[in-house]
Amino acid sequence: MSDKKLKEVNYMNEIVIVTPSELHGLIKNKLEKAGLKSEHADEVAKHLVFADSCGIHSHGAVRVDYYAERIAKKGVTIEPKLSFEKTGPCTGIFHGDNGIGQYVANEALKYAIDMAKENGVAVVGVERLSHSGTMAYYLNKITDNDLIGLTVCQSDPMVVPYGGREPYYGTNPIGFGAPASEGLPIIFDMATSVQAWGKILDARSKNVEIPDTWAVDRKGVPTTNPHDVGALLPISGPKGYGLMMMVDVLSGVMLGVPFGGHVSSMYDKMSEGRDLGHTFILIDPGKFTDINKFKENITRTKEELHKIKPAEGFQQVFYPGETSQIIYEKYQKEGIPVEKGIYEYLISDIVHYNKFGGQSAFASKK
Ligand code: NAI
Repeated sequence: MSDKKLKEVNYMNEIVIVTPSELHGLIKNKLEKAGLKSEHADEVAKHLVFADSCGIHSHGAVRVDYYAERIAKKGVTIEPKLSFEKTGPCTGIFHGDNGIGQYVANEALKYAIDMAKENGVAVVGVERLSHSGTMAYYLNKITDNDLIGLTVCQSDPMVVPYGGREPYYGTNPIGFGAPASEGLPIIFDMATSVQAWGKILDARSKNVEIPDTWAVDRKGVPTTNPHDVGALLPISGPKGYGLMMMVDVLSGVMLGVPFGGHVSSMYDKMSEGRDLGHTFILIDPGKFTDINKFKENITRTKEELHKIKPAEGFQQVFYPGETSQIIYEKYQKEGIPVEKGIYEYLISDIVHYNKFGGQSAFASKK
């Protein structure tokens, strides 16, 4: 089906269906117009198209307007001085110089993969980068190399600690991936808040209500209006709170970058670098067991999970990452749905809407 036909069919639903290559071109072009180098814009576009292709719309094209504004206002280093400092046989720090997050993290990951293949383990910290997107993108590259991956990064303070009414930690994501002998890897990837902040942005862009378990308003009261959100809630109370602390220690305190409540706000000080941290922990399972046996047993795990009888109201048990993989296959064939307002921005001459600087992370124009 041609691109044109896809758009005609779906415009009625306020959704535009675009091919992955068209979406990539539009995002890359917009980021280049904002001032990003072609190579960097290309990598960010690949990353965002991947997120939208997996149905992770919170980390796809919805972010372009924000990235374009931060780039245009010099809150991202256009010519970052990137360097890898090996600090031990299995450890290293990648200096990101506040380059665009997806590009910087992807460059750091190349060193981590080489190190893990050579030594069996690699712990690589990435210091000073901007928002690094969805962890699943990196996990797929890690598992493609027959490695297990655990990756975490900081996010700006917007989640109330258990028992508190003011935000302290970010939505600090945790991603874990393991390769399989048959089919796709297991990719577990989540925010440690009930929902990622991008899901609030997604709800705002669609102007739809959110469940009252996701967030609180400025008085600390649960809200269903995405425009009223004052802070997010951690998953499972004190347990999610503990996990977001773990992420902050591994990707913030350990890397010597601002931590906890000191992490910069995504939507404030748009002309300054974010100074975020991101950490990759890679393990070669072949150093512990036979690699083929390991991958076969991951496949077996997936098969055994599929055989578990579904609970009432469920059609089947999926392994982590599987629903995204199903969506990915579908969108590769049928095209990716993009919210109409985002599509219209992408095809317009507008570089960005100048709507973020100086605002609270939670501010909404609506
Ligand atoms: P989510 O709630 O959509 O999914 C969490 C996990 O549950 C995934 O591994 C998913 O595959 C799995 N899952 C979903 N439905 C399932 C089912 N029916 N059966 C089995 N497993 C299932 O993810 P969340 O928490 O909304 O995070 C979205 C994205 O946001 C992630 O990619 C994360 O990396 C990213 N993120 C990035 C941040 C950053 O600052 N860079 C901050 C926070 C999140």
